[in-house]
Amino acid sequence: MTENKADIAVLVSGGGTNLQALIDAQKSGIIKSGRIKLVVSNNSSAYALTRAENNGIKTAVILKKECSGQSEFEQKIIDTLRENGIDLIVLAGFMSILSENFTNTFKDRIINVHPSLIPSFCGEGFYGLRVHEAALSKGVKVTGATVHFVNEIPDGGKIIMQKAVEVLDGDTPEILQRRVMEQAEWKILPAATELICAGITE
Ligand code: GAR
Repeated sequence: MTENKADIAVLVSGGGTNLQALIDAQKSGIIKSGRIKLVVSNNSSAYALTRAENNGIKTAVILKKECSGQSEFEQKIIDTLRENGIDLIVLAGFMSILSENFTNTFKDRIINVHPSLIPSFCGEGFYGLRVHEAALSKGVKVTGATVHFVNEIPDGGKIIMQKAVEVLDGDTPEILQRRVMEQAEWKILPAATELICAGITE
């Protein structure tokens, strides 16, 4: 905690549009009970890292291929989070499933954004565009996004916020992904982050 704000780490793997939404929400005051202190990526070419650097946020890159396995990879992330005194971990497009050891280490202090209305189209194998491909092939007329706590079950933790988004005729996975991001993810992720930070600091 710094100046009564929760210290946030955002874990990313790719483009980082959700990270950008968090940065923008911090600037506009939607996030006022926390502050993004660190961005951790498991991919050294993630554009999310550039977004962090452009905003003066400290970054760390931790690569699984440089570790002996999942447990060393996770231990390095845990050490980095502890060294930085992190209070809340936000998974924003972080494409690596974390073990029970990791989730128990930060119990009720990890949240994730998922691009569907959980319990639809979630769990192992459902990430990124695949989620929208599955929604379109099922023919659902409404999809959306969910922010939830992270526990040992992939996408299985308690739901914090959800927002529905219409599926339209002619949608491709890419078009649907963009609409879900714009109308749901970029709104509920900052809102849920503020909600949890406010609980941590009160
Ligand atoms: C987002 O749609 C996020 O919900 C999804 O990956 C995308 C990352 O985009 N996450 C998952 O599918 C996790 N299961 P971003 O890097 O632009 O934020």
